[in-house]
Amino acid sequence: MEFRHLGATGLKISEISLGNWLTHGGQIAEDAAISCVKAAQDAGISTFDTADVYSGTAAEAVLGRALAGQRRESLEIFTKVYFPTGDGVNDRGLSRKHIMESCHASLRRLQTDYIDLYQAHRYDYETPLEETLRAFDDLVRQGKVLYVGVSEWSSKQIEHAIEIAKDMGFDRIVSNQPQYSLLYRVIEEKVIPTSKKHGIGQIVWSPLAQGVLTGKYLPHQPAPQGTRASDERVNDFVKRWMDDDLLQAVQDLRPIAADLGLSLSQLSIAWVLQNKNVSSAIIGATRPEQVTENVKASGVKLSKEVMKKIDEVVGKFVISDPKLTQSPKPRA
Ligand SMILES: NC(=O)c1ccc[n+]([C@@H]2O[C@H](COP(=O)([O-])OP(=O)(O)OC[C@H]3O[C@@H](n4cnc5c(N)ncnc54)[C@H](OP(=O)(O)O)[C@@H]3O)[C@@H](O)[C@H]2O)c1
Repeated sequence: MEFRHLGATGLKISEISLGNWLTHGGQIAEDAAISCVKAAQDAGISTFDTADVYSGTAAEAVLGRALAGQRRESLEIFTKVYFPTGDGVNDRGLSRKHIMESCHASLRRLQTDYIDLYQAHRYDYETPLEETLRAFDDLVRQGKVLYVGVSEWSSKQIEHAIEIAKDMGFDRIVSNQPQYSLLYRVIEEKVIPTSKKHGIGQIVWSPLAQGVLTGKYLPHQPAPQGTRASDERVNDFVKRWMDDDLLQAVQDLRPIAADLGLSLSQLSIAWVLQNKNVSSAIIGATRPEQVTENVKASGVKLSKEVMKKIDEVVGKFVISDPKLTQSPKPRA
């Protein structure tokens, strides 16, 4: 496993990290979740991403149990705040009250004294940014959080946060967590140039477009049993990719991967890692074998010719409109 800096910070993180959205506390049983974490660690992954809201807070608790008792210095634990964790009007958003309460609950569930990276899961249009950034800064000063970041923020929102931190002397954001894959490139036009300017690294989610870029979903065929797309509990988001022509284009990438001795998953994860502004690609997994296969993308270099061939195959399906970087308005 190769390591990269988290943005311009001194912290190193594994360039492939394991996330537990939909899986831990949800789609898979606890023993499978623990096996995936073990496979990740066996392969050199030290960085784990979760969120207070995943599986109604159960995902953090599963990850906490999976990592309990381990040497804390050898782990980087990332979590997030913003989406509702309860029915109350204040159980959501980026107010000082919810940030403080949610952070304390995350620390308890994760069984740790500190979170390595605490992320604003979306931009909150109902809280002044100064309030959010001061609360984040207080958590850093209290030692409960080491670094702060955001997720799916636009270039303007990122710029604004950097300006406020500078004016107020707050600890500044060091990362953004956007969706990014060879099919979904909306951050390239605006978010990445702004991030580079300010030393912000991308920790990218769904590098496999939720499993679509493994090539296991075939055009004109039902999704295989036991996959995310076949599971009514978790297939809301993956459905967007279930288009026969797009699934055929993914199959057409196979020879490119095969020429390099890679699987389609490895080629797709390697694709996001070619971007130097990416600090880590967060993969998801329901089985340990998936982790073992996917981590082999670490360190793979793709030539300009290969990148061009990929574009020729999937070009027409690539989503790149920067306006798609959005947060719920009003707040979720
Ligand atoms: N910040 C945000 O708003 C946000 C949003 C979404 C996700 N995330 C983060 O990103 C992480 C990853 O997202 P994701 O799970 O969508 O990532 P992904 O890596 O694109 O998809 C993972 C899923 O693909 C399937 N898969 C993976 N490797 C495979 C292989 N080698 N062969 C066959 N199938 C394979 C598995 O699903 P099945 O086995 O069920 O088919 C697995 O759960 C999340 O856990 C979370 O930490 C963040």
